[in-house]
Amino acid sequence: MSKVKPISASFHTAFTETNLGHSGLRLNSSFVKAATYEGMVDNGIPNKNLIDHHVSMVKGGVGMTTVAYGAVSSDGRTFKEQMSINEASLEVLKELAEKVHGEGGKVSMQLTHCGYFSKNKASKSFMAPSRIFNAYGFLSGLVFSKAMNEEELERVALDFANSARALQEIGFDAVEIHLGHGYLLSQFLSPLTNKRKDRYGGSINNRSRYPLYVVDKVIKTVGPDFPVLVKLNLDDGIKGGFSLTDCIFVSKKLEEIGCTAIVLSGGFTSKSPFYLLRGKVPFKGMIKNASSVAEKLTMGILGPAIIRKYHFKENFFLDKAIQVRKEVTLDLIYLGGVDSKIGMENIFSKGFNFIALARPLIHDPEFLLKIKDGIIDKSGCNRCNECIVEMDRKGVKCVLN
Ligand SMILES: Cc1cc2nc3c(=O)[nH]c(=O)nc-3n(C[C@H](O)[C@H](O)[C@H](O)COP(=O)(O)O)c2cc1C
Repeated sequence: MSKVKPISASFHTAFTETNLGHSGLRLNSSFVKAATYEGMVDNGIPNKNLIDHHVSMVKGGVGMTTVAYGAVSSDGRTFKEQMSINEASLEVLKELAEKVHGEGGKVSMQLTHCGYFSKNKASKSFMAPSRIFNAYGFLSGLVFSKAMNEEELERVALDFANSARALQEIGFDAVEIHLGHGYLLSQFLSPLTNKRKDRYGGSINNRSRYPLYVVDKVIKTVGPDFPVLVKLNLDDGIKGGFSLTDCIFVSKKLEEIGCTAIVLSGGFTSKSPFYLLRGKVPFKGMIKNASSVAEKLTMGILGPAIIRKYHFKENFFLDKAIQVRKEVTLDLIYLGGVDSKIGMENIFSKGFNFIALARPLIHDPEFLLKIKDGIIDKSGCNRCNECIVEMDRKGVKCVLN
């Protein structure tokens, strides 16, 4: 039997207070700023720009803003400039949470571990579900990942739980555990990267065992009232990868263990990076950003052949997300290609109570308010994707502005 959630949000009601899942957290709109790596760090410590960036998002009408890529340990960073959750970052993040609250908004942290998707030379243990060749970081000397043993699985699960608790203590309103986009927990879910023969590999029941264990451990650590969201792939966007059927299986399990809401996305950063973005591939900027001559050459020569382009279409994940919507009742947050007021009405009418946005808000943090006030009816973002080049320079921004 279909489990479609009763529809309670529409664009019209989206700017009123609403509960996020069963958590009791009240958001003052049904819009969420999706995690987009900001690159606003100095030597791994978030800087003032990060605070201003998120304050501008809540001023622009999102009920909750998501700080991107909080690595749960220093080894969990894809590259060494990224922030990890430690005493020094928490000090700045505390101020960020206070400033966001001062504007009436809520703030969540995306918690991540990169697994084998790393070029962090400072990493002391380069590990993943299995021994995997690391095309992304082999020029940095990280060639083959080590398959994690039970002790390492437990340690990383504890890192997720401790990071969530630390964020709860400094006033964050929620955490989002990254199970998508090809990072460590997604590497466990995907048959392409999980080649284990033990109880963590093989069937989707086994492949999801460790990611679900991590989410459950986080929920038990922070308690039932603190929202724990999950970012989950609809599919990896590659043949033989995590599938929509797998996604429905994992979504049902997440509902069972008390996850607050799922942000649906897709793609595998090391294999199908533009599946989750669509639009132009900004090769020039990506080559410029490469950290060594060898990397620039590899990117220049192989890039266009191996990085696939995907045509942009408004609400590009909606058809797949609807399939999940039919199977679970927990809050699902729609993400991917949101562009216009009519498109948002369509998402709400399909039973999604929340909508997350990334590029339209990087282009214009006031996008939602302008739509609400009838000043515009669609985003000015043209999906040139130069923002992903900018995030690795001085911090994420729209080059059109
Ligand atoms: C500059 C940039 C950085 C991103 N960084 C992250 C990230 O750190 N974590 C993540 O889960 N998704 C990241 N994403 C993906 C977005 O959260 C989102 O899934 C994608 O942009 C599609 O949404 P949109 O069409 O509203 O932009 C990033 C996207 C962009 C454009």
